[in-house]
Amino acid sequence: MLFGIFGCQQAGGESTGSEMIPDMAHSVAYEANVLTNYSFHSFDEHSVVSRRELSQPRLPVNGTIPRGYAGMANYNGVYGSAEDAVISTMNRMKTGGIAYTANGHVPYAYPDSEEGRTLATQQIRYNPFPITEGGLAKGKELYNIYCGICHGEKGDGGGYLVRDNGGKYPAQPANLVDSLFVFSSNGRFYHGIVYGKNAMGAYADKLSFEERWQVIHYIRSLQATARKAKYDSKANTLVSEYGVPEALVPKPTPTPPPSPMPNDGKTPPTGGDHSHDDAGGHSTSGGH
Ligand code: HEC
Repeated sequence: MLFGIFGCQQAGGESTGSEMIPDMAHSVAYEANVLTNYSFHSFDEHSVVSRRELSQPRLPVNGTIPRGYAGMANYNGVYGSAEDAVISTMNRMKTGGIAYTANGHVPYAYPDSEEGRTLATQQIRYNPFPITEGGLAKGKELYNIYCGICHGEKGDGGGYLVRDNGGKYPAQPANLVDSLFVFSSNGRFYHGIVYGKNAMGAYADKLSFEERWQVIHYIRSLQATARKAKYDSKANTLVSEYGVPEALVPKPTPTPPPSPMPNDGKTPPTGGDHSHDDAGGHSTSGGH
């Protein structure tokens, strides 16, 4: 109580005044983004950007890609085998190389159309991540949160939105363990997650690049369960092309880390892998 009364004193005359716990009035958390008149900075006077604009959080620059999350070139013809696709991905994740034209956080070059779905199904065959126990666990968690409510815990299309109070949900979710989907390439699933389809919404903003692929691994494991096949970190007897068990991934070729040495001015600096595996030259704004 006494502190409350005598804690703060107005500045005036000879006194500089004092302030109790100033960070309660001038929040540290907000000051990072807020241009207050409280402080003495003057740069806004010379700036062409309004104070209001300066004080608002910014979106990342268009085309920003998180380090290590460059688009993966799971594109038809680039890799000879599923194992190659996995190794290449692992190498890229390590060096943070940029492999695609930057058109979004995780570039995806196929348009949101039936034509795009068909192309993606034809061309994106491999899951760029190996089947791991950890990945399947993550995929299961995410699937049950985001997909199972409609597609069912077993993937058979009987989620509780459809099952309980039958008929409330206007469309029948796909039966993902049907042979149609067992023998559909991974691109069909990836495309479906990125854009959705008819009554199903898009999940690109809910699932990160890697999470989408782990969900797809988990759907494959549901398909395997339904057909008494194996799909785990040791074996894949479902469709071998669509998932490489961790145990079968050959050791990636070690890539030297980018040299921290200043260059001698003769050779241009090399910054990771900038090879352009452009996905067929589609230019879309579908950067999710
Ligand atoms: C709100 C209900 C709902 C949720 C949640 C949902 N889906 Fe769907 N999904 C549907 C419906 C309905 C269809 C059938 C769309 C059609 O064919 O018209 C469908 C179709 C699909 C298809 C088939 C697309 C094709 O190529 O024919 C895939 C794959 C799929 N969903 C995956 C997923 C995944 C993965 C998730 C979770 C990230 C998910 N769905 C979440 C309702 C849902």
